[in-house]
Amino acid sequence: MTAELAGAVVVVTGSSSGIGAATARAVSAAGAHPVLVARRVELLRELAGALPAATVVAEDLRDPGAAGRVIDAALAVSGRLDALVNNAGMLVMGPVVECRDVSELFAVNVFTPVELMRRALEVMVPQGTGAIVTVSTGELALERPHPEHGAYVASKAALTAFTDAAREELRGVGGVSVSTVYPGATDTPMWALARGNPNTPDIPAGPVERVADAIVGLITGGDAEFRCW
Ligand SMILES: NC(=O)c1ccc[n+]([C@@H]2O[C@H](COP(=O)([O-])OP(=O)(O)OC[C@H]3O[C@@H](n4cnc5c(N)ncnc54)[C@H](OP(=O)(O)O)[C@@H]3O)[C@@H](O)[C@H]2O)c1
Repeated sequence: MTAELAGAVVVVTGSSSGIGAATARAVSAAGAHPVLVARRVELLRELAGALPAATVVAEDLRDPGAAGRVIDAALAVSGRLDALVNNAGMLVMGPVVECRDVSELFAVNVFTPVELMRRALEVMVPQGTGAIVTVSTGELALERPHPEHGAYVASKAALTAFTDAAREELRGVGGVSVSTVYPGATDTPMWALARGNPNTPDIPAGPVERVADAIVGLITGGDAEFRCW
């Protein structure tokens, strides 16, 4: 057990939609105080209004300063940071020959999540407790990317590698866990976008609640990897 959820401060990036919104609802139902992070502030406020307690942080995670502001907003709740769910993600598809600039994609999917992880660990290690969960992508896709999904899968592979390394570095550092969830196709706006590409496999999408439940299990169980369908 690395992070009890009752009273915990849990940052969930990308909580205006899909898996992130479901995760915010799930941690809230378990008694946590979610810190909701995304650009679409009206959606965050609507979600916060439906929960007993939550903090809204409107940030564009392409901005290199966003990670510091998110962690500061979480610490302002009660001086603690119990969990970070690095969920926000961006999907860009197209052939490698047209792949001129992946800087925005890598900012959202890699650079800011890694900086969030780094800053969270600066709090959690001295605190002696905490959980970090990375939302990766389906393991089969990581092993063999579909055509036109190269940039997206490469970004997820990079974040997953940082997460794997952090897990090993922190093994034995009592109380702090680093976990990864590998969702398969999940019924969200991002999956609807992916379905628009002919290279995306025509498979059924699972419900967001199953991924959210897996994330809750990783926060409380710690140091694990979970494959969703
Ligand atoms: N759906 C799937 O089949 C599937 C499968 C494997 C992995 N995943 C991963 O699951 C995670 C959640 O995706 P989802 O499927 O739930 O998609 P989604 O419903 O489209 O949600 C994406 C979230 O990321 C946020 N986001 C995107 N760009 C951002 C930016 N620049 N700054 C701040 N927030 C930003 C969005 O918020 P705003 O637009 O309001 O900023 C939104 O809340 C992603 O990391 C995705 O790669 C999804």
